[in-house]
Amino acid sequence: MIGGDRRGFLLRFLLLACLAVLRLGEAECSAYFQPFNVSYDHRALIIGGKRRMLNSAGIHYPRATPEMWPDLIAKSKEGGADVVQTYVFWDRHEPVRGQYYFEGRFDIVKFVKLVRDAGLYLHLRIGPYVCAEWNFGGFPVWLRDIPGIIFRTDNEPFKAEMERFVKKIVDLMREEMLFSWQGGPIIMLQIENEYGNIESSFGQGGKNYVKWAAGMALGLGAGVPWVMCRQADAPGSVINACNGYYCDGFRPNSGNKPSLWTEDWDGWYASWGGRLPHRPVEDLAFAVARFFQRGGSFQNYYMYFGGTNFGRTSGGPVYITSYDYDAPIDEFGLKSQPKWGHLKDLHGAIKLCERALVSSDSVHYLKLGPLQEAHIYNGTEGMCSAFVANVDQHRSATVHFLGKAYTIPPWSVSILPDCRNIVFNTAKVAAQTSIKSTEVPYSNLSLGQIILMRNGHSYISKSWMSLAEPNALWSNDTFTVQGILEHLNVTKDRSDYLWYFTRIHVSDDDVAFWEENKVSPKIEIDSMRDVFRVFVNGQLAGSVVGHWVKVVQPIKLVQGYNKLVLLSQTVGLQNYGAFLEKDGAGFRGKVKLTGLKSGDIDLSKLSWTYQVGLSGEFRKIYSIEENEKAEWTDLVQDDACPAFTWCKTFFDSPEGVDPVALNLGSMGKGQAWVNGHHIGRYWNSVAPKDGCQKCDYWGPYHSEKCTTNCGKPTQTRYHVPRSWLKSSDNLLVIFEEFGGNPFDISVELHTSEMVCGQVSETHYPPLHRWSYPDSLLGTISIDDPTPEMYLNCEEGHVIGSIEFASYGTPKGGCRNFQRSSCHAADSEHVVKEACEGRNSCSIKISNAEFGGDPCRGIVKTLAVQARCISSASSKLGASAFK
Ligand SMILES: *[C@@H]1O[C@H](CO)[C@@H](O)[C@H](O)[C@H]1NC(C)=O
Ligand SMILES: *[C@@H]1O[C@H](CO)[C@@H](O)[C@H](O)[C@H]1NC(C)=O
Ligand SMILES: *[C@@H]1O[C@H](CO)[C@@H](O)[C@H](O)[C@H]1NC(C)=O
Ligand SMILES: *[C@@H]1O[C@H](CO)[C@@H](O)[C@H](O)[C@H]1NC(C)=O
Ligand SMILES: *[C@@H]1O[C@H](CO)[C@@H](O)[C@H](O)[C@H]1NC(C)=O
Repeated sequence: MIGGDRRGFLLRFLLLACLAVLRLGEAECSAYFQPFNVSYDHRALIIGGKRRMLNSAGIHYPRATPEMWPDLIAKSKEGGADVVQTYVFWDRHEPVRGQYYFEGRFDIVKFVKLVRDAGLYLHLRIGPYVCAEWNFGGFPVWLRDIPGIIFRTDNEPFKAEMERFVKKIVDLMREEMLFSWQGGPIIMLQIENEYGNIESSFGQGGKNYVKWAAGMALGLGAGVPWVMCRQADAPGSVINACNGYYCDGFRPNSGNKPSLWTEDWDGWYASWGGRLPHRPVEDLAFAVARFFQRGGSFQNYYMYFGGTNFGRTSGGPVYITSYDYDAPIDEFGLKSQPKWGHLKDLHGAIKLCERALVSSDSVHYLKLGPLQEAHIYNGTEGMCSAFVANVDQHRSATVHFLGKAYTIPPWSVSILPDCRNIVFNTAKVAAQTSIKSTEVPYSNLSLGQIILMRNGHSYISKSWMSLAEPNALWSNDTFTVQGILEHLNVTKDRSDYLWYFTRIHVSDDDVAFWEENKVSPKIEIDSMRDVFRVFVNGQLAGSVVGHWVKVVQPIKLVQGYNKLVLLSQTVGLQNYGAFLEKDGAGFRGKVKLTGLKSGDIDLSKLSWTYQVGLSGEFRKIYSIEENEKAEWTDLVQDDACPAFTWCKTFFDSPEGVDPVALNLGSMGKGQAWVNGHHIGRYWNSVAPKDGCQKCDYWGPYHSEKCTTNCGKPTQTRYHVPRSWLKSSDNLLVIFEEFGGNPFDISVELHTSEMVCGQVSETHYPPLHRWSYPDSLLGTISIDDPTPEMYLNCEEGHVIGSIEFASYGTPKGGCRNFQRSSCHAADSEHVVKEACEGRNSCSIKISNAEFGGDPCRGIVKTLAVQARCISSASSKLGASAFK
């Protein structure tokens, strides 16, 4: 006992010491948690001896910068997450076999420690196959060159490499004291990833591999549970977990395993030329509530923050650079509202139920109507929590439950932490909406900043320089062989670009034949992915974009020798499917020149000279050191940055803390670097005109259901993390493939410029008002049951002006609210008093607050639209008032 107390004291002391040190910013804290063990039973994970109901925030560390990590983790915690979940990205951690890299955005130890220091748990999904819409699914490209290798099956070379890397990561976490039993945050691991989807492709080898992978993982002595997601045959103690839009019907493969949801798809990824997917938060909250209602115990948002595929990390076919995912925290690190806020309320409601949910071994089921049902968790000591669902997609339902009548909106769940009081309904959103804008930074507000305006648009620079990429051999590393080699076999993914050079001799006869018959010769390729271009005698003769499509490209040849150049380009390597090692890139099948008088020429019979990449890429002319050495020439204003040209400029960064984006909508396709940091590929590829219908939250969601952005480029704005910028003279280097106008590139600030709230008397009071009085176990109580509106601007901003406020029966929604005849005259005054000049405010939804009842017997609503302004500019405004 005494020993135990002393340990407790020492730990508390250590914790305090840690916090003190953290405040001084001198060193890292090394013990936040007291060591605890993690196990599980049929109901839940057992953490330090207690079953827990857990919500988890998916964040992939390399999709943000280390400077962004603390804020992302803090916003996850504030949003009610208990856990942070991430994959581990093998390709970047071991870029060369046996040479490991854990720096910068890949400093996984630092990331895990930040999660620990925030007091959150961590679920580490090692894979090491991760899919993740990441280049090659996270496999290093060198892996495919290991003799005899077949990925993800009972194959000795693959198993040896996989085991070595998984052990490396587990050992690293152990050395850094990051497992729960060491006082670290890691409560759970993952081996493999959605293997069940492809297992049948491997026959018995697949089955053996699953057993081997589980045994290998368990043999590493990590001391915390392992999961396999989408793996119905997960062996022994490994928990099979669910991934999907809904997982409430999921049951693990053994009665001793809890129901875990490793990937709750709260949005979806996008491809170049695709629409942008959105999942309504009412449906997402419904899915989560249904999961806990029907016995689930751990749920992870995939993604809570999606972030950015910087560099060439995005997978394929052709995934965009943004990995926003419509997540509760947007690509730039700002809250996406009302998604973030409504889920925070949901998590609060689930927390209030936790004690009953974990102390109950079985659930009582009540059918309340044809499409209505309740699940009741009767815990110890009179504790009782219930979920009441109406899964009718169209109609509200009035149900009778434990002696009371409740009206439940369509496709929604009401949560009753004490079986008596509804504290939350998934379809009733009280959280604010935020409207994001990309503001042009104003010169007159940020002192000394130069703003450049042209045709009403801002642009970042009026002086650009250019440098043409040679359409010729420049490398000292070229080689010549007979035949068409496979793309990845040559590039090893050192670059997106692979050039094939040859010469073709054309006779008089052929030219006469083409002229007589009015036909042209064609390059024909059986199958090609992602981008193919052909140049004849130095001129671009055609381009094809697609995923394993046939190429039939007419070209023009002249009599005599013709220089023929084929360019194969990748836009993110395949990240999903069986036999990735064979998938490859570039061309498949026959490559021919057809339409000659004498018949077709099999081009694989010719001698080809191979060159990997771009000259500028290999000279690193995008870097601060090397760009000075290159032979740039001035680009004349109103001139394009031509196809296959490097263009550069210097720009000042906007002041303040708002995230920064470059708008590259005036460019074609290519890659961009800021101060040597690769901000990603860009492509002004336009989404289809059709398919963006009006979106209703009810009914099963799928990725095509609530898309936006029809007829517009899929992505024009590219995140440049603040930590990559200096205040002035930032080097921007662009490699442009199609030709575009760099003079129209602008730098934009990403902010929530407007917030709107719409809360009525029938909304539930804020979750944080509910509590369990110590004396009355099983009963929750509330000091004040009045609903409230809560408004909040981003950090560094305050509510600047109230553009609309009406307490009564206002109509419309954010950006088109209108008063009706029922309107409290005090509305605007009350809201202004409460909110103006503040970062956040709350207003009670009651007649008393607004000087009386504006219309008796009618349900009143408060609707507010407010503008957020930067705190700096508000200070100027405030002093003007006084
Ligand atoms: C965790 O479990 C191990 C093995 O059963 C035990 O030795 C250790 O004391 C436990 N640690 C804690 C903190 O309970
Ligand atoms: C569960 O708790 C509720 C509310 O306290 C009670 O009405 C009900 O009878 C209990 N059910 C069981 C099976 O114990
Ligand atoms: C600052 O400049 C912008 C753009 O020209 C203008 O609209 C705005 O009124 C100016 N603001 C102030 C405070 O002068
Ligand atoms: C090619 O050039 C690079 C850079 O100038 C040099 O480092 C390398 O050794 C050269 N390789 C060969 C094979 O000459
Ligand atoms: C790539 O290279 C490997 C080993 O050199 C070879 O076995 C394989 O057939 C090549 N792939 C293709 C598609 O040419």
